[in-house]
Amino acid sequence: MRQIVDEQLQELILQYESSNVRDAAEYSLLAPGKRVRPLLMLALIKDYGSDPYLGLDVACAIECIQTYSIVHDDLPAMDDDDFRRGQPTNHKVYGEALAILAGDSLLTMAFEVLAQSNYSDDKKIKLIDLFAKRAGMNGMILGQTLDLSYETQPCESLEDLLTMYDLKTGCLLSLALEAAAILVEKDKDREVLKNIGYRCGRAFQIQDDIFDVVKTLEEIGKTVGSDKFNNKTTALAFMTIEEANELVVSLYAQIREDLFELKLINSEIYTMIEYLMSRQS
Ligand code: IPE
Ligand code: IPE
Ligand code: MG
Ligand code: MG
Ligand code: MG
Repeated sequence: MRQIVDEQLQELILQYESSNVRDAAEYSLLAPGKRVRPLLMLALIKDYGSDPYLGLDVACAIECIQTYSIVHDDLPAMDDDDFRRGQPTNHKVYGEALAILAGDSLLTMAFEVLAQSNYSDDKKIKLIDLFAKRAGMNGMILGQTLDLSYETQPCESLEDLLTMYDLKTGCLLSLALEAAAILVEKDKDREVLKNIGYRCGRAFQIQDDIFDVVKTLEEIGKTVGSDKFNNKTTALAFMTIEEANELVVSLYAQIREDLFELKLINSEIYTMIEYLMSRQS
Protein backbone atom coordinates (compact mmCIF):
# COMPACT_ATOMS: atom_id res chain seq x y z
CA MET A 1 0.00 0.00 0.00
CA ARG A 2 2.87 2.32 0.80
CA GLN A 3 4.19 2.10 -2.75
CA ILE A 4 0.72 2.86 -4.10
CA VAL A 5 0.57 5.99 -1.92
CA ASP A 6 3.99 7.07 -3.21
CA GLU A 7 2.96 6.52 -6.84
CA GLN A 8 -0.25 8.46 -6.37
CA LEU A 9 1.62 11.34 -4.70
CA GLN A 10 3.99 11.42 -7.68
CA GLU A 11 1.07 11.48 -10.11
CA LEU A 12 -0.70 14.25 -8.19
CA ILE A 13 2.32 16.54 -8.06
CA LEU A 14 3.08 16.05 -11.75
CA GLN A 15 -0.32 17.55 -12.59
CA TYR A 16 1.17 20.95 -11.80
CA GLU A 17 3.23 22.95 -14.26
CA SER A 18 6.93 22.46 -14.06
CA SER A 19 8.43 25.19 -11.84
CA ASN A 20 10.95 25.75 -9.08
CA VAL A 21 8.22 25.59 -6.47
CA ARG A 22 6.92 22.28 -7.86
CA ASP A 23 10.46 20.89 -7.68
CA ALA A 24 10.76 22.06 -4.06
CA ALA A 25 7.36 20.57 -3.10
CA GLU A 26 8.16 17.29 -4.86
CA TYR A 27 11.56 17.13 -3.14
CA SER A 28 9.99 16.88 0.32
CA LEU A 29 6.76 15.11 -0.60
CA LEU A 30 8.45 12.21 -2.34
CA ALA A 31 11.31 11.88 0.13
CA PRO A 32 11.15 8.65 2.15
CA GLY A 33 8.78 9.61 4.96
CA LYS A 34 7.18 6.82 6.94
CA ARG A 35 3.69 7.62 5.56
CA VAL A 36 2.24 6.84 8.99
CA ARG A 37 -0.92 8.92 8.56
CA PRO A 38 -1.96 7.64 5.11
CA LEU A 39 -1.25 4.06 6.14
CA LEU A 40 -3.28 4.41 9.35
CA MET A 41 -6.17 5.77 7.35
CA LEU A 42 -6.09 3.04 4.71
CA ALA A 43 -5.75 0.33 7.36
CA LEU A 44 -8.85 1.61 9.13
CA ILE A 45 -10.89 1.71 5.93
CA LYS A 46 -9.95 -1.92 5.32
CA ASP A 47 -10.94 -2.87 8.87
CA TYR A 48 -14.34 -1.31 8.31
CA GLY A 49 -14.76 -3.72 5.40
CA SER A 50 -14.25 -1.25 2.56
CA ASP A 51 -11.73 -1.11 -0.23
CA PRO A 52 -8.70 0.95 0.88
CA TYR A 53 -8.42 2.37 -2.65
CA LEU A 54 -11.53 4.33 -1.74
CA GLY A 55 -9.35 6.46 0.53
CA LEU A 56 -6.26 6.87 -1.62
CA ASP A 57 -6.85 10.51 -2.59
CA VAL A 58 -7.68 11.54 0.98
CA ALA A 59 -4.63 9.65 2.26
CA CYS A 60 -2.48 11.60 -0.21
CA ALA A 61 -4.09 14.87 0.87
CA ILE A 62 -3.14 14.07 4.49
CA GLU A 63 0.45 13.39 3.45
CA CYS A 64 0.51 16.79 1.69
CA ILE A 65 -0.48 18.45 4.97
CA GLN A 66 2.05 16.39 6.93
CA THR A 67 4.83 17.34 4.49
CA TYR A 68 3.88 21.02 4.53
CA SER A 69 3.94 20.96 8.34
CA ILE A 70 7.46 19.57 8.52
CA VAL A 71 8.85 21.80 5.73
CA HIS A 72 7.68 24.82 7.70
CA ASP A 73 8.64 23.26 11.07
CA ASP A 74 12.25 22.97 9.85
CA LEU A 75 12.54 26.60 8.71
CA PRO A 76 15.08 28.88 10.43
CA ALA A 77 12.24 30.86 12.03
CA MET A 78 10.92 27.66 13.60
CA ASP A 79 13.19 24.72 14.53
CA ASP A 80 15.98 25.62 12.10
CA ASP A 81 16.87 22.05 11.21
CA ASP A 82 19.17 20.79 8.47
CA PHE A 83 18.04 17.20 7.83
CA ARG A 84 14.65 15.63 7.27
CA ARG A 85 13.55 12.37 5.71
CA GLY A 86 17.18 11.39 5.21
CA GLN A 87 18.11 14.43 3.16
CA PRO A 88 18.92 18.14 3.62
CA THR A 89 15.83 20.14 4.62
CA ASN A 90 13.86 21.97 1.94
CA HIS A 91 15.20 25.44 2.73
CA LYS A 92 18.79 24.12 2.72
CA VAL A 93 18.34 23.07 -0.90
CA TYR A 94 15.84 25.57 -2.30
CA GLY A 95 16.25 28.56 0.06
CA GLU A 96 13.79 29.89 2.58
CA ALA A 97 11.44 31.67 0.21
CA LEU A 98 10.85 28.60 -1.97
CA ALA A 99 10.53 26.36 1.10
CA ILE A 100 7.78 28.64 2.44
CA LEU A 101 6.03 28.60 -0.93
CA ALA A 102 6.46 24.83 -1.28
CA GLY A 103 4.78 24.39 2.13
CA ASP A 104 1.98 26.77 1.11
CA SER A 105 1.56 24.81 -2.14
CA LEU A 106 1.29 21.46 -0.37
CA LEU A 107 -1.32 22.81 2.04
CA THR A 108 -3.35 24.23 -0.85
CA MET A 109 -2.87 21.06 -2.88
CA ALA A 110 -4.48 18.98 -0.14
CA PHE A 111 -7.73 20.92 -0.51
CA GLU A 112 -7.58 20.72 -4.30
CA VAL A 113 -7.20 16.93 -4.09
CA LEU A 114 -10.27 16.77 -1.81
CA ALA A 115 -12.32 19.06 -4.04
CA GLN A 116 -11.50 17.05 -7.16
CA SER A 117 -12.13 13.64 -5.61
CA ASN A 118 -15.06 11.42 -6.57
CA TYR A 119 -16.82 11.35 -3.22
CA SER A 120 -20.30 12.73 -2.71
CA ASP A 121 -20.59 16.47 -2.04
CA ASP A 122 -21.73 15.69 1.48
CA LYS A 123 -18.56 13.69 2.22
CA LYS A 124 -16.34 16.27 0.54
CA ILE A 125 -17.71 19.07 2.70
CA LYS A 126 -17.23 16.99 5.84
CA LEU A 127 -13.66 16.16 4.79
CA ILE A 128 -12.78 19.76 3.94
CA ASP A 129 -14.18 20.89 7.29
CA LEU A 130 -12.24 18.17 9.14
CA PHE A 131 -8.98 18.98 7.32
CA ALA A 132 -9.33 22.69 8.06
CA LYS A 133 -10.16 22.06 11.73
CA ARG A 134 -7.40 19.54 12.51
CA ALA A 135 -4.69 21.34 10.53
CA GLY A 136 -5.85 24.85 11.44
CA MET A 137 -5.70 27.47 14.15
CA ASN A 138 -7.51 25.36 16.76
CA GLY A 139 -5.50 22.30 15.72
CA MET A 140 -1.96 21.58 14.53
CA ILE A 141 -1.10 25.26 14.04
CA LEU A 142 -2.16 26.08 17.60
CA GLY A 143 0.04 23.20 18.80
CA GLN A 144 3.00 24.51 16.83
CA THR A 145 2.39 27.98 18.26
CA LEU A 146 2.33 26.67 21.84
CA ASP A 147 5.46 24.62 21.12
CA LEU A 148 7.28 27.79 20.04
CA SER A 149 5.99 29.79 23.02
CA TYR A 150 7.49 27.19 25.38
CA GLU A 151 10.97 28.02 24.03
CA THR A 152 10.88 31.35 25.82
CA GLN A 153 8.38 30.65 28.61
CA PRO A 154 8.96 27.11 29.84
CA CYS A 155 5.88 24.89 29.97
CA GLU A 156 4.80 24.64 33.61
CA SER A 157 3.17 21.23 33.76
CA LEU A 158 3.21 17.86 32.08
CA GLU A 159 -0.52 18.26 31.48
CA ASP A 160 0.03 21.47 29.48
CA LEU A 161 2.80 19.80 27.51
CA LEU A 162 0.62 16.81 26.65
CA THR A 163 -2.20 19.11 25.57
CA MET A 164 0.26 20.80 23.21
CA TYR A 165 1.21 17.33 21.87
CA ASP A 166 -2.46 16.49 21.28
CA LEU A 167 -2.56 19.55 19.07
CA LYS A 168 0.77 19.61 17.24
CA THR A 169 1.04 15.86 16.62
CA GLY A 170 -2.30 14.30 17.62
CA CYS A 171 -4.43 16.43 15.33
CA LEU A 172 -2.99 15.07 12.07
CA LEU A 173 -3.31 11.51 13.41
CA SER A 174 -6.94 12.17 14.41
CA LEU A 175 -7.43 13.62 10.95
CA ALA A 176 -6.33 10.33 9.38
CA LEU A 177 -8.65 8.23 11.54
CA GLU A 178 -11.69 10.50 11.36
CA ALA A 179 -11.33 10.88 7.59
CA ALA A 180 -11.59 7.10 7.27
CA ALA A 181 -14.78 7.16 9.37
CA ILE A 182 -16.29 9.83 7.11
CA LEU A 183 -15.54 7.84 3.97
CA VAL A 184 -17.10 4.62 5.25
CA GLU A 185 -20.03 6.45 6.89
CA LYS A 186 -19.10 5.56 10.46
CA ASP A 187 -19.51 9.10 11.76
CA LYS A 188 -20.69 7.72 15.10
CA ASP A 189 -17.13 6.42 15.73
CA ARG A 190 -15.48 9.78 15.13
CA GLU A 191 -15.33 10.92 18.75
CA VAL A 192 -13.54 7.74 19.89
CA LEU A 193 -11.26 7.87 16.84
CA LYS A 194 -10.40 11.50 17.55
CA ASN A 195 -9.32 10.55 21.06
CA ILE A 196 -7.30 7.61 19.75
CA GLY A 197 -5.54 10.09 17.44
CA TYR A 198 -4.71 12.36 20.37
CA ARG A 199 -3.41 9.49 22.48
CA CYS A 200 -1.41 8.28 19.54
CA GLY A 201 -0.04 11.82 19.07
CA ARG A 202 1.09 11.94 22.69
CA ALA A 203 2.79 8.57 22.46
CA PHE A 204 4.31 9.37 19.06
CA GLN A 205 5.62 12.74 20.24
CA ILE A 206 7.10 11.34 23.46
CA GLN A 207 8.91 8.73 21.36
CA ASP A 208 10.08 11.58 19.13
CA ASP A 209 11.38 13.48 22.19
CA ILE A 210 13.33 10.37 23.26
CA PHE A 211 14.71 9.83 19.73
CA ASP A 212 15.96 13.43 19.67
CA VAL A 213 18.19 12.51 22.63
CA VAL A 214 19.19 8.89 22.04
CA LYS A 215 19.29 8.38 18.26
CA THR A 216 21.69 9.38 15.50
CA LEU A 217 20.93 11.34 12.35
CA GLU A 218 21.51 8.17 10.30
CA GLU A 219 18.99 6.24 12.39
CA ILE A 220 16.11 8.72 12.23
CA GLY A 221 16.96 10.62 9.04
CA LYS A 222 16.58 14.03 10.68
CA THR A 223 18.58 16.39 12.86
CA VAL A 224 19.11 15.11 16.41
CA GLY A 225 19.69 17.25 19.51
CA SER A 226 17.40 19.87 17.99
CA ASP A 227 15.11 20.16 21.04
CA LYS A 228 17.95 20.88 23.46
CA PHE A 229 19.53 23.31 21.03
CA ASN A 230 16.22 25.18 20.67
CA ASN A 231 15.55 25.12 24.41
CA LYS A 232 12.30 23.20 23.87
CA THR A 233 10.29 21.84 26.75
CA THR A 234 9.86 18.12 26.01
CA ALA A 235 8.48 15.20 28.00
CA LEU A 236 12.01 14.65 29.31
CA ALA A 237 11.74 17.87 31.35
CA PHE A 238 9.21 16.03 33.53
CA MET A 239 10.49 12.46 33.61
CA THR A 240 13.40 10.15 32.92
CA ILE A 241 13.76 8.31 29.62
CA GLU A 242 12.69 5.14 31.39
CA GLU A 243 9.51 6.76 32.71
CA ALA A 244 8.84 8.26 29.30
CA ASN A 245 9.11 4.81 27.72
CA GLU A 246 6.65 3.48 30.30
CA LEU A 247 4.22 6.29 29.53
CA VAL A 248 4.48 5.44 25.82
CA VAL A 249 3.67 1.79 26.53
CA SER A 250 0.68 2.74 28.71
CA LEU A 251 -0.68 5.13 26.08
CA TYR A 252 -0.51 2.43 23.40
CA ALA A 253 -2.21 0.02 25.84
CA GLN A 254 -5.06 2.53 26.21
CA ILE A 255 -5.31 2.80 22.44
CA ARG A 256 -5.74 -0.95 22.28
CA GLU A 257 -8.64 -0.67 24.72
CA ASP A 258 -10.21 2.09 22.62
CA LEU A 259 -9.88 -0.10 19.53
CA PHE A 260 -11.51 -2.91 21.49
CA GLU A 261 -14.43 -0.60 22.19
CA LEU A 262 -14.79 -0.10 18.44
CA LYS A 263 -14.45 -3.86 17.87
CA LEU A 264 -11.26 -3.20 15.95
CA ILE A 265 -8.99 -5.63 17.72
CA ASN A 266 -6.90 -8.12 15.65
CA SER A 267 -7.20 -5.70 12.78
CA GLU A 268 -4.91 -3.90 10.34
CA ILE A 269 -5.13 -0.77 12.45
CA TYR A 270 -4.05 -2.79 15.47
CA THR A 271 -1.01 -4.00 13.54
CA MET A 272 -0.20 -0.39 12.61
CA ILE A 273 -0.42 0.61 16.29
CA GLU A 274 1.94 -2.26 17.20
CA TYR A 275 4.32 -0.98 14.53
CA LEU A 276 4.12 2.56 15.92
CA MET A 277 4.81 1.32 19.44
CA SER A 278 7.97 -0.49 18.40
CA ARG A 279 9.14 2.00 15.76
CA GLN A 280 12.79 2.95 15.88
CA SER A 281 12.69 6.01 13.58
C1 IPE B 1 7.35 14.13 12.10
O1 IPE B 1 6.40 13.16 11.82
C2 IPE B 1 6.71 15.24 12.87
C3 IPE B 1 6.21 14.78 14.17
C4 IPE B 1 4.96 14.87 14.47
C5 IPE B 1 7.12 14.20 15.15
P1 IPE B 1 6.87 11.73 11.26
O2 IPE B 1 7.85 11.11 12.20
O3 IPE B 1 5.65 10.93 10.92
O4 IPE B 1 7.65 12.15 9.93
P2 IPE B 1 7.71 11.51 8.48
O5 IPE B 1 6.40 11.84 7.81
O6 IPE B 1 7.93 10.03 8.62
O7 IPE B 1 8.86 12.21 7.83
C1 IPE C 1 6.66 18.79 14.75
O1 IPE C 1 7.14 18.55 16.01
C2 IPE C 1 5.19 18.67 14.63
C3 IPE C 1 4.73 19.16 13.32
C4 IPE C 1 5.49 19.30 12.28
C5 IPE C 1 3.35 19.51 13.20
P1 IPE C 1 8.72 18.48 16.13
O2 IPE C 1 9.35 19.78 15.79
O3 IPE C 1 9.08 17.87 17.43
O4 IPE C 1 9.04 17.43 14.98
P2 IPE C 1 10.49 17.06 14.47
O5 IPE C 1 11.27 16.58 15.66
O6 IPE C 1 11.07 18.30 13.87
O7 IPE C 1 10.21 15.97 13.47
MG1 MG D 1 8.83 21.80 15.97
MG1 MG E 1 11.01 20.17 14.50
MG1 MG F 1 10.76 16.52 17.68
